[in-house]
Amino acid sequence: MATERTQVGIIGSGPSGLFLSQLLHLNGIDNVVLERRSREYVLGRVRAGVLEQGTVNLMREAGVQARMEREGLPHDGFNIALDGELHRMDLKARVGGSVMIYGQTELTRDLMDARTEAGGRLLYEAEGVGIEGLEDDRAILRYRHDGADHTLECDFIAGCDGYYGPSRQAIPKDVLREYERIYPFGWMGLLSATRPIAEELVYARHPRGFALCSMRSQTRSRYYVQCSKDDRVEEWSDDRFWDELRSRLPGDLAATLETGPSIEKGIAPLRSYVAEPLRYKRLFLAGDAGHIVPPTGAKGLNLAASDIHYLSRAMIAWYHENNAALLDSYSDNCLRRIWKAERFSWWMTNLLHTFPDTNPFEHRMRDAELDYLFSSEAMMTAVAENYIGLPY
Ligand code: APR
Ligand code: PHB
Repeated sequence: MATERTQVGIIGSGPSGLFLSQLLHLNGIDNVVLERRSREYVLGRVRAGVLEQGTVNLMREAGVQARMEREGLPHDGFNIALDGELHRMDLKARVGGSVMIYGQTELTRDLMDARTEAGGRLLYEAEGVGIEGLEDDRAILRYRHDGADHTLECDFIAGCDGYYGPSRQAIPKDVLREYERIYPFGWMGLLSATRPIAEELVYARHPRGFALCSMRSQTRSRYYVQCSKDDRVEEWSDDRFWDELRSRLPGDLAATLETGPSIEKGIAPLRSYVAEPLRYKRLFLAGDAGHIVPPTGAKGLNLAASDIHYLSRAMIAWYHENNAALLDSYSDNCLRRIWKAERFSWWMTNLLHTFPDTNPFEHRMRDAELDYLFSSEAMMTAVAENYIGLPY
């Protein structure tokens, strides 16, 4: 059995793992990434694509901003559709900021290419990754790769392995606290090679259910409709999807919808979830391994980026200055921002979706909240501030 050593062992090559690997590398900290899937599989996953300014900055810090700056679409606002009308949330005017439309798949590809070019150790199809020795001087990652068993000794392990990965399970049950809300519906998403319906995103509230019009580029659109939790993709023909989407948008906008064959279609459940703490001894959780938001507001990727901002700084301070203060405050620093993004995602989800068992009073409350939102400068500013991302 081959035994190797590294400073930081990273489990998972999603945005969290790749950002961390690249930032550590740029700061002279040795690391290895172990990924269960193939590179092609990771790049085949279609995810959201709205980057907060902090995430854009992290791309720059990681030195992988060139394509994003060429191909990304800066957006100064987004729309909420209600009762046949569009209400624009002006991000620039209210809080002087904007977001960048750039797919998570593209961001992941840019980071992967940078790691590969720099000769980074990224092992795909690493099987059976197991964590040991968290309480000892050295943590150990065991895995199988290319038919052989391997042992990797690390100072620290970064659990960047998403919601279903093994890292969080390595935290003892009496230490880990979990907070969760499961929503009684899902999102049916469709990607098509069509012109986006509008210049900016449209989040629609409608009695038939929520709908979202998003995009990846000027020629690629991403749409979602709220669906039943138990729906299966096969039940959603392209025609059914387009008809349903049209029915939930203001009529004049719906009339301009360009439809085409789906390139990708999938159903995602909606969940809010937070694990506390995000650190146990030599293990640090980041991204989806530690928390999940429902996609309304597109905070998932951005939270992964802010976690890595804190974690990379903490590890750099440890290796460069022998200072453990930021490692010790990692979990608290991340969680403060995570809970606020959880709140915003939960609030937007509640505001815009149709819930199966809403009583008439709750209905009126939601109507009042929307009426207040569209008539209050203060409220629209608060929404804009959260949408562009709270400060790190
Ligand atoms: N061993 C190695 N790798 C694993 C294992 C394992 N046992 N289990 C999971 N992984 C890998 C997954 O295959 C995946 O590539 O960990 C990676 C986790 O990546 P993501 O799920 O993309 O999570 P993260 O990097 O934290 O990014 C968060 O992704 O899911 C979206 O909405 C979310 O946008 C957010 C972002
Ligand atoms: C997306 O483009 O996939 C997207 C955009 C905004 C969201 C969620 C998803 O809130």
